[in-house]
Amino acid sequence: MAKITIDFNHMLASGIGEHGICEEEIARYAGRIAKVHEGLCAKRQMNAWRELPHNQDEIVRDILQTAEKIREKFEYFVVFGIGGSALGMKALFSALKHPRYNELPREKRQGPKIYIVDNVDPDSLNALLDVIDIRKTAFNVITKSGNTVETMSQFMVALSMLENLGEDLKEHIFLTTDKEKGILRKIANEYGFQTFVVPDGVGGRFSVLSPVGLLPAAVIGIDIEALLRGAAEMHALCQKPALEENPAYMYAMLYFIAMKKGVNISVMMPYADGLLCTAEWYAQLWAESLGKKVDIRGNTVHAGQTPVRALGVTDQHSQVQLYNEGPFDKIITFVTVQNFRTNMQIPASPIEMRDTQYLAGQSFNKLIASEQAATEYAVTSAGKMNMRITLERVDEESLAALLFFLEMATAAAGEFLEIDAFDQPGVEAGKIATFALMGREGYEQKAEELSKKEKGNPDFCYECN
Ligand code: PA5
Repeated sequence: MAKITIDFNHMLASGIGEHGICEEEIARYAGRIAKVHEGLCAKRQMNAWRELPHNQDEIVRDILQTAEKIREKFEYFVVFGIGGSALGMKALFSALKHPRYNELPREKRQGPKIYIVDNVDPDSLNALLDVIDIRKTAFNVITKSGNTVETMSQFMVALSMLENLGEDLKEHIFLTTDKEKGILRKIANEYGFQTFVVPDGVGGRFSVLSPVGLLPAAVIGIDIEALLRGAAEMHALCQKPALEENPAYMYAMLYFIAMKKGVNISVMMPYADGLLCTAEWYAQLWAESLGKKVDIRGNTVHAGQTPVRALGVTDQHSQVQLYNEGPFDKIITFVTVQNFRTNMQIPASPIEMRDTQYLAGQSFNKLIASEQAATEYAVTSAGKMNMRITLERVDEESLAALLFFLEMATAAAGEFLEIDAFDQPGVEAGKIATFALMGREGYEQKAEELSKKEKGNPDFCYECN
C-alpha cells in the first residue's frame, strides 16, 4: 500500500504570513471545483491515461513475457525516445533501481544494463556505441507519433549497425508506437517487428504507465503490477469530487490562485537523488500541459508556470539563497522520503576533529531529514510559499501514486486555467521547422520561410577568436 502525505499548510497565509493564500481566496475559488470535476469527468473518455491503472491485465502479461525473453537473451537494453517517451522511464529507473545499476555485476542486477537515450548529441551517441555490444543489445524504440526525428534517426543507427553485423533485426528491435498512425507503425507492419501500443488518449507526458514505461521497467525487474496498484490507489482518491478529500484538486486550486498572484515558478525539490528524474518528469508535465497561448475559447492568455527542478541538499548550496531572499514568485515543493533503503551511520573520526565530533554516531538519514526540515523552516520564515510531499518509502506503489497524483493535479490545473492541457502546439511548431531544415519532403515551403529569416544585427553578436 502506497503511503504518501501531501501537506499544503505552507501555501497558506496562516502558515507563512501575508504572501500566502488567504481564506477568502480559497472560498472564492473552491466554488469552481464542481466545474473542474465536471470538466474532467466529461473528458474521461478522451483521457485514456486515467484508465491505465485499471485496464492493462492482458498487456501486462505480454510485457512480462517479452521482458523475460529480453532479460534472458541480452546484456544491454537501449531505449530510444524523447520527451514523454523517455522522461517517465528515467524517473522509474532512477527512483526504483540501484543508483549504480549498470555498474553492478550481472548477478546483482535483475536485467540487462539499460541506457535511455533521448538527445541527439553526436558525442553522447558515439559514446553509447563505445560501451555496448550491438550483438548483445535489444533496442526499444518509443515514439507515439512514430515520426519524431530524434528517435527515428537513432533507430536508423541501430538498424544499420545490426544489418552490417548480419543480425536478425526482428530479434533485436521492439517498437512502442501508435496502433495505426506514423512511420514507425508502417515499418512495424511491413517488417513484422514486435510492437507495443501507446493507446489513443494517452499523450507522451501521461504515458509512463502505458507500455512506454512498463516494458523497459519490466525488463530491468521493476514490479509493474505494483506500479499499477499504486496508481490505482491514488486514482481512487483523486477522482473524488470534494476538495477536502481530493489532494489533486487542492494542489490545482492552490497553484492556480498562486499563479493569479503572479507566482509563476514551480520548484520541485526532492531530498533523494533517485527522485531528481521525477522532478524532471514533472517539469515536462507541468510545462507542456499548462504553457498555452490560448484558452479553450481562443482568447490569448499565455498561461503557465515555469517548472524548475532542484535537488536537496545539493541545491541548498546553490539556489536556496534565491528561494529565501529573492522575489515572491515561486512555490517550492519539497519531496521527502521517510525511510531510505539504507541506514548509514556517520562514524567517529579516527583523527582529531573536535568541532565535528557531534556528528559521530548519528546517521546520514537524520542529516538529510534535518537539512530538509531546516530549509523548509527557513523558506517558511521568509514567507515563501512551499509545500511538502512525503513518501513513507520509495517503492513501486508509492512512486506510481506520486506520478499519478501529479498527472491528476496537472489535468485539474488545466481545467482551472481553462486551457487544453493535452495538446502541445508549441512543440509541434519546432518539430515542423526541424523537418524543414533537414529537408523532409512536403516541408519545402517552411524551409524557404526559414531560409529567409533575418540574419540579425551584427552589432549585437560577439565573437572571441
Ligand atoms: O508529451 C508529449 O506529447 C511530448 O513530449 C512527446 O512525448 C515528445 O515530443 C515525443 O513524441 P513522440 O512520442 O511522438 O516521439
